[in-house]
Amino acid sequence: MKTQVAIIGAGPAGMMLAHMLKRAGIDCLVLERRDRAYVEGRVRAGVLEQTTVSILENLGLADRLKREGLPHDGFSISCDGKQFRIDLAGLTSGSRVTVYGQQEVMKDLFDAAPARGLDVVFDAENVALHDIDSSSPSVSWTKDGRSHRVACAFIAGCDGYHGVSRAAIPATVISEHEKAYPFGWLGILAEVPPCSHELIYASHERGFALASMRSQSRSRYYIQVGLDEDIEAWPDDRVWDELAARLGPDADAHMKRGPSFEKSVAPLRSYVCEPMRYGRLFLAGDAAHIVPPTGAKGLNLASSDVLFLAEALITHNKTGSTSALDEYSQRALARVWKAERFSWWFTHLTHRFPTSTSLERKLQIAEMDYLAGSVAARTALAENYVGLPLAGELHHRPR
Ligand code: FAD
Ligand code: DHB
Repeated sequence: MKTQVAIIGAGPAGMMLAHMLKRAGIDCLVLERRDRAYVEGRVRAGVLEQTTVSILENLGLADRLKREGLPHDGFSISCDGKQFRIDLAGLTSGSRVTVYGQQEVMKDLFDAAPARGLDVVFDAENVALHDIDSSSPSVSWTKDGRSHRVACAFIAGCDGYHGVSRAAIPATVISEHEKAYPFGWLGILAEVPPCSHELIYASHERGFALASMRSQSRSRYYIQVGLDEDIEAWPDDRVWDELAARLGPDADAHMKRGPSFEKSVAPLRSYVCEPMRYGRLFLAGDAAHIVPPTGAKGLNLASSDVLFLAEALITHNKTGSTSALDEYSQRALARVWKAERFSWWFTHLTHRFPTSTSLERKLQIAEMDYLAGSVAARTALAENYVGLPLAGELHHRPR
């Protein structure tokens, strides 16, 4: 078996890359360890930057997103119950974000695949990378007890933080930068209308909380919990009570409670692997970097990575030049590090750290007060939240 690009992982990074390459006439094969229902069922990201929306539009995959996605021009921050608004559109000359679940993005990417001749192998077990530092790499896997191997020109490692791609790079040629946070996010989905028409990020003495949504009738909420927290210790009533306390009286007054139909705890981590390339293997998305979810950057970074990677592979395919491929890692990392910084900063501003002192809490409150009162500070937050440009200068004129 032969293909031009073997893509490992059918998450957002792998599937967007596959669509981009296929549209440019580059042959590829996607290998995914799980089945489609599992990948599509994972409840994760909810906020798409305009760059991600534009990628999906350019691929002709945004019809449903345009119909069902919820454009948001701002969000609120609540600090110990007092709210102020970040006017995203007003502070960035009209940029906005779109609330559209990762599950919906995955459904759109998968639904369009067969008609476009995109090959996705689900339930591919024991995926292994071979000869990645040679000019003739290959990938092997087993499925239904049978062994397979595909020879390729390049491999795209889009298999998330726990995948095999990054692990195939010798430890001596990469630098890893990591911080694990001493808490997680407990998230619920419930079939109730959101408590506010915009998201609310809350910093409270009791910890962080986030009110988000998937539609006008479906809410997504998160609360900061301890890492060793047993999910059984969080029956719905306790989650709703905690949300009410942390989000504050305005949100509580409009919060509709109901049974949750999804509940899980996710750990928080900042992580970057440099460079994002070894030989003929290119890493993209969570395989190369992780951000804490505060600020909603993970899926959006996966999108910009694969846009840069697709451009480089297409240039190589057209001209034979490797210069764009050689620049991929540096180009991607320039955007990655800024999003890492933003997610780390927003996490520190809004979460309670077990080791934090009264001084640190007072400093958080002072920074919140500063944000509430300073257009310059809110502009810095807004331009990061809507997504930094793919290249070059920021062009918004703060109002
Ligand atoms: P993944 O989605 O992890 O996909 C990797 C794929 O590779 C998976 O399908 C996996 O099964 C497959 N795979 C793994 N190992 C192998 C193997 N050995 N062989 C073959 N296949 C393999 N991001 C945002 O932008 N906005 C948000 O609002 C947001 N909220 C989040 C909330 C939560 C609770 C969490 C957990 C994450 C959130 N994120 C958010 C982050 C976002 O979900 C991820 O950054 C995104 O899924 C990364 O996509 P990916 O394709 O790189 O990796
Ligand atoms: C959601 C997740 C995030 O991490 C975030 O910052 C905003 C919204 C969500 O799942 O809706």
